[in-house]
Amino acid sequence: MAGLSSLARVAREVRRDLEAARERDPSALGVGPVEILATWPGVQAVLAHRVAAALHEAGVPLLPRAIAYVARALTGIEIHHAAKVGAGLFIDHGAGVVVGETAIIGDGVTLYQGVTLGGTGFETGKRHPTVQDNVTIGSGAKLLGPIEIGHGAKIGANSVVVRDVPPNSTVVGVPGHPVRIDGRRVEGPDTDWIHLPDPVADAMRALSARVAELERMVTELGGTPPTVEPENVHTLRPVRGRNPAGG
Ligand SMILES: CC(C)(COP(=O)(O)OP(=O)(O)OC[C@H]1O[C@@H](n2cnc3c(N)ncnc32)[C@H](O)[C@@H]1OP(=O)(O)O)[C@@H](O)C(=O)NCCC(=O)NCCS
Repeated sequence: MAGLSSLARVAREVRRDLEAARERDPSALGVGPVEILATWPGVQAVLAHRVAAALHEAGVPLLPRAIAYVARALTGIEIHHAAKVGAGLFIDHGAGVVVGETAIIGDGVTLYQGVTLGGTGFETGKRHPTVQDNVTIGSGAKLLGPIEIGHGAKIGANSVVVRDVPPNSTVVGVPGHPVRIDGRRVEGPDTDWIHLPDPVADAMRALSARVAELERMVTELGGTPPTVEPENVHTLRPVRGRNPAGG
């Protein structure tokens, strides 16, 4: 009886996954469900995971791991059989996607090729991200550690995200940082990750100014300031770009 209800649940989930492919992949427009099931690696990998996860929950040994292994060989997508995956997961293109053992994925999530939901090292316990509903993760993005990706967030292609992501935000870059929250550009002094303040350069600049001032005073008093070979003098790299406080 429990087996039958698991089967019915998996069938329902697969129907949602097929709908997700048709809704979110423009190239699936007008393509029938059988063709999608037969030729979309992302859909096949999620289907294989649904079966492997149901068997794993039922306590079946070895088979869930074997299914995940075969699915990986066929699709290039590795979803650990113990990962929790919500309804309507769509993996576009697919190859190179890795979803770790303790990852949790909510409903309506989209992953592109090369996405990793991974751990950061050899820690044990919950060590992979939790991705809430309706999140989109761009190709090549790496989400590492037991972080929380808020619902509706968009993660830019090739970002490396190691901190929690607020809901309805757009996060890009390495390390990933929010550039939009609720559709609005993020403002404030901590938002420019490109032009970070450089305290060492600031201190050296202050010291140089002080030395120049002392040399001027020595000259005024009739002394000779020490000469420095010009090739030993390196000008400090000027600060370029926007003011870090500019948001
Ligand atoms: C992150 C992403 C979802 C942003 O979409 P959006 O909400 O429309 O946001 P915008 O395009 O307005 O971008 C917001 C800012 O982030 C920057 N940005 C966008 N994507 C970026 C990325 N991947 N890396 C670095 N910066 C990025 C934009 O230049 C923009 O900067 P600005 O505020 O200085 O103008 C999108 O750019 C992205 O990377 N999507 C992934 C798509 C993908 O993987 N496709 C694979 C198909 S095979």
